[in-house]
Amino acid sequence: MLWNFSARSAWVAPLRLCVFGKLTKWRMAFSSSATAFDRLIGTTNHSGAHLPASTEERIIRPAQNVRGSLRLPGDKSISHRYGMLAAFAEGVSRFRNFSTGADCASTLACMEALGAQVRKLDDGSVEIAGVGGRVRPAEAPLDCGNSGSTMRMIAGLLAPQEGRFTLVGDESLSRRPMERILKPLAAMGARLTLTEGHAPLMIDGGPLKAIDYTTPVPSAQVKTCILLAGLQTEGTTTVREAVRTRDHSELALQAFGAKLTRTLDAVSIAGSQKLHAIEAAVPGDISSAAFFLCAAALFPGSNLVLDFLGLNPTRAALLDVLTALGAQISVLNLEEKNAELVGTVQVSAPAEGLGATEISGALAAQLIDELPVLAAIGPYTAGGIRIRDAKELRVKESDRIALVAKNLRAMGAEVTEFEDGLDVPGGQKLHGATIDSGSDHRIAMAFSVAALKAEGQTLIQGAESAAISFPEFFDLLDLVAER
Ligand code: S3P
Repeated sequence: MLWNFSARSAWVAPLRLCVFGKLTKWRMAFSSSATAFDRLIGTTNHSGAHLPASTEERIIRPAQNVRGSLRLPGDKSISHRYGMLAAFAEGVSRFRNFSTGADCASTLACMEALGAQVRKLDDGSVEIAGVGGRVRPAEAPLDCGNSGSTMRMIAGLLAPQEGRFTLVGDESLSRRPMERILKPLAAMGARLTLTEGHAPLMIDGGPLKAIDYTTPVPSAQVKTCILLAGLQTEGTTTVREAVRTRDHSELALQAFGAKLTRTLDAVSIAGSQKLHAIEAAVPGDISSAAFFLCAAALFPGSNLVLDFLGLNPTRAALLDVLTALGAQISVLNLEEKNAELVGTVQVSAPAEGLGATEISGALAAQLIDELPVLAAIGPYTAGGIRIRDAKELRVKESDRIALVAKNLRAMGAEVTEFEDGLDVPGGQKLHGATIDSGSDHRIAMAFSVAALKAEGQTLIQGAESAAISFPEFFDLLDLVAER
């Protein structure tokens, strides 16, 4: 068993309810500006959620401390799945705190083009009327924007449907590997075409056969792709994985009424199942929270509280790593919402500063989205942060190993780059610099955190990319960073 939630006594046990009394700031993370969602949904324009063509630069000034309390927008991974399943199900679903990121807007726009009806309600909830298991053939290509989750997961949903579909994406998505979904879907009998392993992805949909498939690289997107195809395929489809990747699809499918069976390393789904609509609140995104948790872990005397945060054990390894580095973390108000664990997390930095850690093996796979920010704070630890077995970082929205190394060096740090990771020695001082985000949201946000403890100002190029997952990021950073 890779995950034993109850074993995490260090941060689960102390219920410091009194912490709220000390807080000075309490804000909901709703930006007043129009998000990609507002621009796309409910219009007849079904193109993906592209960011403005012009790149935005942001100056990040050093901070004295990080304090306050925030509620973050809904988890991106869960929102993708709820959006896709609601659009496919029968009936009308409603979601509170749906992700405000451009990636989830891409998913909703694609599902609208396939016949679902999506509306934003006055209270900010998202309402989705589903197609009842049969999508409408899309005349135009379905634009997945920057979102690998959208392309890989929708491919599984569409492969067993009648009709032809074309999935396209932006420049970054068009460079990312798609063979990994083609292989299992082809084994199910699907007719898919790629160009040299990349998008555009053409699907000539039709009935498939069930398979038993072991994923060669741990990937929740690939697992989901196969499960969504298996849901519509006669017989039982099984996906096996060496590392238990995020299990939001399994939990969401069950919440929408599908039956599946799970063991420690496999999930099986019977075909020809119908989904029914649900109502749910999406927990705050722990991968977005990572930037704030790491920022707070840097400043002795810090105190940050994040409430209604998603704490699914397959996503919460960051709390263990920060605890191992010496940060004080406590969790309160733990509860289950649609089988997803949510709670309030409070973090403060150790007076003596952060220690050292190595992230490798299964942990690297489970922390894949948090590795850029952990590497970016590595120089400020006493003993450094070493990351191995994380080759997947090279095929994310950018080559995250290369960009983290480049930007750490720009800030004056010493760093060693490996094919599958980084060695960031501790005890280093960084200076402000110009950061090349590579239009990658997690690089832009990771180096905004590193900038808080640097000497002098830092300029983040391509800062608009934060809106891919977290449009409110810079506003919220200003709210909790004390200058
Ligand atoms: C995701 C899975 C991960 C992660 C991505 C979101 C998901 O990708 O990096 O940001 O929602 O399933 P892989 O499946 O490629 O590991």
